[in-house]
Amino acid sequence: MIRTHTCGELRTSDTGAKVCLQGWVRFSRDHGGVAFIDLADRYGITQVVFDPEDLPKDADAGNLAETMRTFTRESAVSIRGTVRSRVAGTEDERNPTGSVEVLITSAELLGRSGVPPLEIGDQKEGVLPSEDIRMKYRYLDLRRTEMIRTLEFRSRFVHMARQYLESQGFLEIETPILGRSTPEGARDYIVPSRVHPGTFYALAQSPQLFKQMLMVGGLDRYYQVARCFRDEDSRKDRQPEFTQLDMEMSFVEEKDIQDTIEGMLAHAWEGIYGKKLQTPFRRISYKEAMWSYGSDKPDLRFGLKLNDVTDVAGKADYEIFRRIISKGGIILGIRIESALAEKIGRNEVDRYIEYAKKAGLGGLTWMRAKDGTLESNIVKYFSPEVISSLIGKLAVKDGDLLFLFAGPEKATQEGAGQVRLKLAEDLDLIPEGVFEFAWLVDCPLFETDPVSGRLTTFHHPFVKPRSPLDEKDAKGSSFDLVLNGTELGSGSLRINDPELQRSVFSMLGISEEKAEEDFGFFLEALGYGAPPHGGIALGIDRLIAMLTGKDTIRDTIAFPKNKRAQSLFDDSPAKVDDEKLEELQIMSIAIGDLEDLE
Ligand code: AMO
Repeated sequence: MIRTHTCGELRTSDTGAKVCLQGWVRFSRDHGGVAFIDLADRYGITQVVFDPEDLPKDADAGNLAETMRTFTRESAVSIRGTVRSRVAGTEDERNPTGSVEVLITSAELLGRSGVPPLEIGDQKEGVLPSEDIRMKYRYLDLRRTEMIRTLEFRSRFVHMARQYLESQGFLEIETPILGRSTPEGARDYIVPSRVHPGTFYALAQSPQLFKQMLMVGGLDRYYQVARCFRDEDSRKDRQPEFTQLDMEMSFVEEKDIQDTIEGMLAHAWEGIYGKKLQTPFRRISYKEAMWSYGSDKPDLRFGLKLNDVTDVAGKADYEIFRRIISKGGIILGIRIESALAEKIGRNEVDRYIEYAKKAGLGGLTWMRAKDGTLESNIVKYFSPEVISSLIGKLAVKDGDLLFLFAGPEKATQEGAGQVRLKLAEDLDLIPEGVFEFAWLVDCPLFETDPVSGRLTTFHHPFVKPRSPLDEKDAKGSSFDLVLNGTELGSGSLRINDPELQRSVFSMLGISEEKAEEDFGFFLEALGYGAPPHGGIALGIDRLIAMLTGKDTIRDTIAFPKNKRAQSLFDDSPAKVDDEKLEELQIMSIAIGDLEDLE
């Protein structure tokens, strides 16, 4: 290395040293012919000074001055010079190198920068250019300290995870990215085959079937930092291309998998934060999560639990409730204690009613507790007995505010869950810096698609059932890792009996022929002594976003896709040359032209 130090390294103890620094000209200012430059790199920022009056006798002042004039903002440069203390009163205490500066004796331009399209200096008060500009010039955006720290954190975390898994006998094994398109899961990204025209690979949505076949192959403990591809609409916590920490183990029970993840996270916690992570994580059943928090990824950092008041409120002589209950619906209540309820005036209540409607509910019914009873515009429909049982059931005290939500079971749970989150946000109930990990357990095996009414899987079709398949509400052996209201990962024990696997496909409406066509290779593999096995995959992007307090996983990925699944730095997706398509025997033709042909 030519440089002797990084830009984050020099301290007062280096005073007098002759050094060479290389980095980027983040900022420069001229004070009466003396140039002060903030020289930056991944490690920090050091002030370097060019003072023509203060050069050694043998220095080529004219040449040096000429070079310094080429140092435009964000150019890559190299300087040599002597470390000295800063003039008293000009130290920068916030910067670890802030007590020293380097007096330049020679300099070289290494890579000139044009005028940068975005400001790289630390963005105080969160003023960032538009995300599209940041994406287009991602290599510049990456120079921001915030991005550098996040990618350093990500690298460190993955390193700690690998270290732990290796120590537990896991083997890191790569699985194919080009594979077969299978009907379950999200939409595939399809890749045409040149060698076999008219046939296609699909990019792996996850290594699921391969990791199971690794277990059939006797590898016993597998992991992979795996790229996964799903043609889904992007969201804050979704990317078309994302990374899983994927693993699989043989001869295990659910708890073994959960223990491994807890051990791995605890190891990373210790290594990164120097603190113990509280394990085992709390376990919460799917049923409790839905009834108490209105979500299968409950945020457990605050209370405001939902309560089932169907039996009590259902007795009111209130037409809307009656109708809903006669159709098998439910009524849920949230009690907001008086100290918080004070902050919710009539107008705010109206806003929550609107919010509830947006959350898919018919609305919400509210009541305030005063003088030992409940008041609201609909309380007249509630007999004194109903009111007193409601007060008893929710332990209502004077000044409290009640929200009641009525409707079909799942929609009402989920809608009330969203109002719960909104209340917590508005009332500032979510503590900073708290990480509430939990395992969501006792999950159903199947669920019904609300649109098509068809039976679908709660997780995926390879989950081992925990109760006979023909039982209504059959349970699966799957579980999710949840953190602060986000699903970080999901895992399960797997089916290792090909006949059982065939039955699950059949229940999902996949015909025997289709199962054979799409999964024949896999069913065959299960028929050669597949061991009992199970595993899990954690979304790395999501985990890093949560741990570093990022609002979107895009901020944890060096080169993410934007909200419209575009990659602005290389301008993809893009058209490809006709010759390339010809080679693949694919024709690209606009729909309009096709109609003309017909
Ligand atoms: P699943 O589909 O639940 O399970 O994915 C596991 C975890 O991966 C993350 N994740 C995503 N992250 C960013 N963008 C996406 N589009 C995206 N989709 C999923 C989430 C999720 O919890 N093969 C199974 C796992 C197993 O059973 O072992 C699987 O892929 O954090």
